[in-house]
Amino acid sequence: MEPTFWESRWREGKTAFHEGDVNLHLERHFPVLKLARGAHVFLPLCGKTVDIDWLLAQGCRVSGSELNAGAIEAVFERLGITPNIEQVRGLRRYSGPGLALWQGDFFELRTLDLGPADAVYDRAALVAMPPSMRAGYAEHLRRLCGGLPQLLVTYDYDQTHMEGPPFAVPETDIRALYDDDFEINPLSSVDIYGSLADRCSGQEQSWFLRPAIG
Ligand SMILES: C[S@@+](CC[C@H](N)C(=O)[O-])C[C@H]1O[C@@H](n2cnc3c(N)ncnc32)[C@H](O)[C@@H]1O
Repeated sequence: MEPTFWESRWREGKTAFHEGDVNLHLERHFPVLKLARGAHVFLPLCGKTVDIDWLLAQGCRVSGSELNAGAIEAVFERLGITPNIEQVRGLRRYSGPGLALWQGDFFELRTLDLGPADAVYDRAALVAMPPSMRAGYAEHLRRLCGGLPQLLVTYDYDQTHMEGPPFAVPETDIRALYDDDFEINPLSSVDIYGSLADRCSGQEQSWFLRPAIG
Protein backbone atom coordinates (compact mmCIF):
# COMPACT_ATOMS: atom_id res chain seq x y z
CA MET A 1 0.00 0.00 0.00
CA GLU A 2 1.15 3.54 -0.59
CA PRO A 3 2.31 5.69 2.34
CA THR A 4 -0.81 7.87 1.96
CA PHE A 5 -2.99 4.84 2.74
CA TRP A 6 -1.19 4.25 6.05
CA GLU A 7 -1.02 7.91 6.98
CA SER A 8 -4.80 8.18 6.59
CA ARG A 9 -5.25 5.01 8.67
CA TRP A 10 -3.28 6.62 11.50
CA ARG A 11 -5.00 10.00 11.07
CA GLU A 12 -8.46 8.39 11.23
CA GLY A 13 -7.53 6.11 14.13
CA LYS A 14 -8.14 2.97 12.02
CA THR A 15 -5.36 1.05 13.73
CA ALA A 16 -7.07 -2.19 14.75
CA PHE A 17 -3.79 -3.92 13.82
CA HIS A 18 -2.30 -2.49 17.00
CA GLU A 19 -2.42 -5.13 19.74
CA GLY A 20 -2.62 -3.95 23.34
CA ASP A 21 -0.68 -7.00 24.50
CA VAL A 22 2.53 -8.67 23.47
CA ASN A 23 2.00 -10.86 20.43
CA LEU A 24 1.44 -14.43 21.56
CA HIS A 25 3.78 -15.90 18.95
CA LEU A 26 6.58 -13.59 20.03
CA GLU A 27 6.14 -14.50 23.68
CA ARG A 28 5.90 -18.20 22.88
CA HIS A 29 8.64 -18.52 20.29
CA PHE A 30 11.18 -15.82 21.10
CA PRO A 31 13.63 -18.45 22.49
CA VAL A 32 13.91 -20.04 19.03
CA LEU A 33 15.99 -17.03 17.99
CA LYS A 34 18.59 -17.98 20.62
CA LEU A 35 19.61 -14.38 21.21
CA ALA A 36 22.19 -13.32 23.75
CA ARG A 37 21.50 -10.38 26.07
CA GLY A 38 22.09 -7.16 24.20
CA ALA A 39 21.23 -8.72 20.82
CA HIS A 40 19.86 -6.31 18.23
CA VAL A 41 16.41 -7.06 16.82
CA PHE A 42 14.99 -5.21 13.81
CA LEU A 43 11.22 -4.70 13.43
CA PRO A 44 10.21 -3.60 9.92
CA LEU A 45 6.96 -1.59 9.81
CA CYS A 46 6.78 -1.55 13.59
CA GLY A 47 3.83 0.78 14.22
CA LYS A 48 3.63 1.49 17.95
CA THR A 49 3.67 -2.15 18.97
CA VAL A 50 4.18 -3.06 22.63
CA ASP A 51 6.35 -5.90 21.32
CA ILE A 52 9.11 -3.26 21.31
CA ASP A 53 8.74 -2.76 25.08
CA TRP A 54 8.70 -6.52 25.61
CA LEU A 55 11.88 -7.06 23.58
CA LEU A 56 13.63 -4.28 25.50
CA ALA A 57 12.55 -5.95 28.75
CA GLN A 58 14.18 -9.17 27.51
CA GLY A 59 17.47 -7.27 27.30
CA CYS A 60 17.44 -6.78 23.52
CA ARG A 61 18.36 -3.67 21.63
CA VAL A 62 15.61 -2.75 19.21
CA SER A 63 15.45 -0.95 15.87
CA GLY A 64 12.30 -0.33 13.91
CA SER A 65 11.05 1.31 10.76
CA GLU A 66 7.73 3.16 10.69
CA LEU A 67 6.16 5.79 8.44
CA ASN A 68 4.04 7.46 11.06
CA ALA A 69 5.76 9.90 13.40
CA GLY A 70 2.88 9.82 15.92
CA ALA A 71 3.27 6.05 16.31
CA ILE A 72 6.97 6.42 17.06
CA GLU A 73 6.36 9.26 19.49
CA ALA A 74 3.74 7.09 21.25
CA VAL A 75 6.34 4.36 21.84
CA PHE A 76 8.81 6.77 23.41
CA GLU A 77 6.09 8.38 25.50
CA ARG A 78 4.89 4.97 26.74
CA LEU A 79 8.46 4.08 27.69
CA GLY A 80 8.99 7.44 29.41
CA ILE A 81 11.99 8.23 27.19
CA THR A 82 12.64 11.59 25.56
CA PRO A 83 14.04 10.65 22.16
CA ASN A 84 17.05 12.16 20.53
CA ILE A 85 15.89 13.08 17.00
CA GLU A 86 18.24 13.33 14.02
CA GLN A 87 17.52 13.92 10.35
CA VAL A 88 19.26 11.33 8.15
CA ARG A 89 18.56 11.99 4.46
CA GLY A 90 14.77 11.75 4.14
CA LEU A 91 14.42 9.81 7.41
CA ARG A 92 14.20 10.82 11.04
CA ARG A 93 15.97 8.69 13.61
CA TYR A 94 14.36 8.71 17.06
CA SER A 95 16.66 7.12 19.61
CA GLY A 96 16.98 6.37 23.28
CA PRO A 97 18.78 3.75 25.37
CA GLY A 98 18.77 0.51 23.37
CA LEU A 99 16.17 1.82 20.94
CA ALA A 100 16.26 3.44 17.49
CA LEU A 101 13.08 3.96 15.47
CA TRP A 102 13.41 5.24 11.92
CA GLN A 103 10.54 7.41 10.79
CA GLY A 104 10.00 7.37 7.04
CA ASP A 105 9.77 4.92 4.20
CA PHE A 106 11.21 1.47 4.95
CA PHE A 107 12.42 1.34 1.33
CA GLU A 108 14.65 4.38 1.99
CA LEU A 109 16.44 2.71 4.89
CA ARG A 110 20.01 1.52 4.22
CA THR A 111 22.10 -1.20 5.82
CA LEU A 112 24.49 1.29 7.36
CA ASP A 113 21.62 3.15 9.02
CA LEU A 114 20.67 0.09 11.02
CA GLY A 115 24.10 -1.25 11.80
CA PRO A 116 24.60 -4.95 12.39
CA ALA A 117 21.46 -6.67 13.63
CA ASP A 118 21.05 -10.19 15.02
CA ALA A 119 17.46 -11.03 14.17
CA VAL A 120 14.33 -9.79 12.44
CA TYR A 121 10.86 -9.85 13.97
CA ASP A 122 8.11 -9.33 11.39
CA ARG A 123 4.60 -9.12 12.76
CA ALA A 124 2.03 -7.63 10.40
CA ALA A 125 4.68 -6.19 8.09
CA LEU A 126 4.86 -8.71 5.23
CA VAL A 127 1.07 -9.13 5.45
CA ALA A 128 0.67 -5.34 5.19
CA MET A 129 2.17 -5.50 1.70
CA PRO A 130 -0.10 -6.19 -1.28
CA PRO A 131 1.08 -8.98 -3.59
CA SER A 132 2.65 -6.48 -6.00
CA MET A 133 4.98 -5.11 -3.26
CA ARG A 134 5.83 -8.33 -1.45
CA ALA A 135 8.89 -9.43 -3.44
CA GLY A 136 10.32 -5.90 -3.20
CA TYR A 137 9.75 -5.92 0.56
CA ALA A 138 11.50 -9.28 1.02
CA GLU A 139 14.35 -8.17 -1.24
CA HIS A 140 14.87 -4.90 0.64
CA LEU A 141 14.81 -6.73 3.96
CA ARG A 142 17.44 -9.11 2.58
CA ARG A 143 19.58 -6.14 1.47
CA LEU A 144 19.25 -4.46 4.85
CA CYS A 145 19.81 -7.43 7.10
CA GLY A 146 21.34 -10.19 5.00
CA GLY A 147 20.10 -13.60 5.99
CA LEU A 148 19.33 -13.05 9.67
CA PRO A 149 17.19 -15.42 11.72
CA GLN A 150 13.62 -14.23 11.52
CA LEU A 151 10.47 -14.72 13.55
CA LEU A 152 7.62 -14.09 11.10
CA VAL A 153 3.93 -13.79 11.97
CA THR A 154 1.43 -14.00 9.10
CA TYR A 155 -2.23 -14.61 8.31
CA ASP A 156 -3.80 -17.25 6.14
CA TYR A 157 -7.48 -16.89 5.22
CA ASP A 158 -9.65 -16.96 2.13
CA GLN A 159 -8.63 -13.77 0.34
CA THR A 160 -11.93 -13.71 -1.58
CA HIS A 161 -13.73 -13.10 1.75
CA MET A 162 -11.87 -9.94 2.67
CA GLU A 163 -9.75 -7.31 1.02
CA GLY A 164 -6.41 -6.77 2.72
CA PRO A 165 -4.55 -5.44 4.50
CA PRO A 166 -3.80 -7.59 6.31
CA PHE A 167 -3.36 -9.88 3.32
CA ALA A 168 -3.36 -13.64 3.40
CA VAL A 169 0.19 -14.90 2.88
CA PRO A 170 -0.02 -18.70 2.75
CA GLU A 171 2.93 -21.02 3.15
CA THR A 172 3.47 -21.32 -0.61
CA ASP A 173 3.95 -17.54 -0.86
CA ILE A 174 6.31 -17.47 2.14
CA ARG A 175 8.35 -20.21 0.52
CA ALA A 176 8.41 -18.40 -2.83
CA LEU A 177 9.80 -15.31 -1.10
CA TYR A 178 12.25 -16.84 1.36
CA ASP A 179 13.08 -20.41 0.32
CA ASP A 180 16.36 -19.48 -1.39
CA ASP A 181 17.89 -18.03 1.77
CA PHE A 182 16.14 -19.75 4.65
CA GLU A 183 15.00 -23.02 6.03
CA ILE A 184 11.35 -22.27 6.79
CA ASN A 185 10.00 -23.84 9.96
CA PRO A 186 6.34 -23.57 10.96
CA LEU A 187 5.91 -22.76 14.67
CA SER A 188 2.28 -22.16 15.66
CA SER A 189 -1.06 -21.71 13.99
CA VAL A 190 -4.00 -20.27 15.92
CA ASP A 191 -7.46 -19.13 14.87
CA ILE A 192 -7.55 -15.45 13.97
CA TYR A 193 -8.61 -13.57 17.10
CA GLY A 194 -9.39 -10.05 18.24
CA SER A 195 -11.13 -7.52 16.03
CA LEU A 196 -9.80 -9.17 12.85
CA ALA A 197 -11.95 -12.21 13.72
CA ASP A 198 -15.03 -10.01 13.10
CA ARG A 199 -13.91 -9.55 9.50
CA CYS A 200 -12.62 -12.99 8.54
CA SER A 201 -11.84 -16.45 9.81
CA GLY A 202 -8.56 -18.17 9.26
CA GLN A 203 -5.24 -18.68 10.94
CA GLU A 204 -2.56 -16.51 12.47
CA GLN A 205 0.66 -18.37 11.86
CA SER A 206 4.24 -18.04 12.96
CA TRP A 207 7.42 -19.18 11.27
CA PHE A 208 11.06 -19.42 12.15
CA LEU A 209 13.24 -18.54 9.18
CA ARG A 210 16.62 -20.06 9.84
CA PRO A 211 19.41 -18.83 7.55
CA ALA A 212 20.31 -21.57 5.09
CA ILE A 213 23.87 -22.76 5.42
CA GLY A 214 26.16 -22.29 2.40
C1 LIG B 1 -0.33 -3.50 9.83
S1 LIG B 1 0.63 -2.29 10.61
C2 LIG B 1 1.64 -3.28 11.70
C3 LIG B 1 2.35 -2.50 12.76
C4 LIG B 1 3.14 -3.34 13.76
N1 LIG B 1 4.06 -4.26 13.14
C5 LIG B 1 2.25 -4.05 14.74
O1 LIG B 1 2.40 -5.27 14.90
O2 LIG B 1 1.38 -3.39 15.35
C6 LIG B 1 1.76 -1.81 9.34
C7 LIG B 1 2.56 -0.57 9.71
O3 LIG B 1 3.52 -0.33 8.70
C8 LIG B 1 3.64 1.05 8.48
N2 LIG B 1 4.13 1.16 7.10
C9 LIG B 1 3.47 0.85 5.96
N3 LIG B 1 4.26 1.03 4.89
C10 LIG B 1 5.47 1.47 5.36
C11 LIG B 1 6.69 1.84 4.75
N4 LIG B 1 6.85 1.80 3.42
N5 LIG B 1 7.71 2.22 5.53
C12 LIG B 1 7.58 2.27 6.89
N6 LIG B 1 6.43 1.94 7.53
C13 LIG B 1 5.38 1.54 6.78
C14 LIG B 1 2.23 1.60 8.71
O4 LIG B 1 2.23 2.97 9.05
C15 LIG B 1 1.75 0.71 9.85
O5 LIG B 1 2.01 1.29 11.10
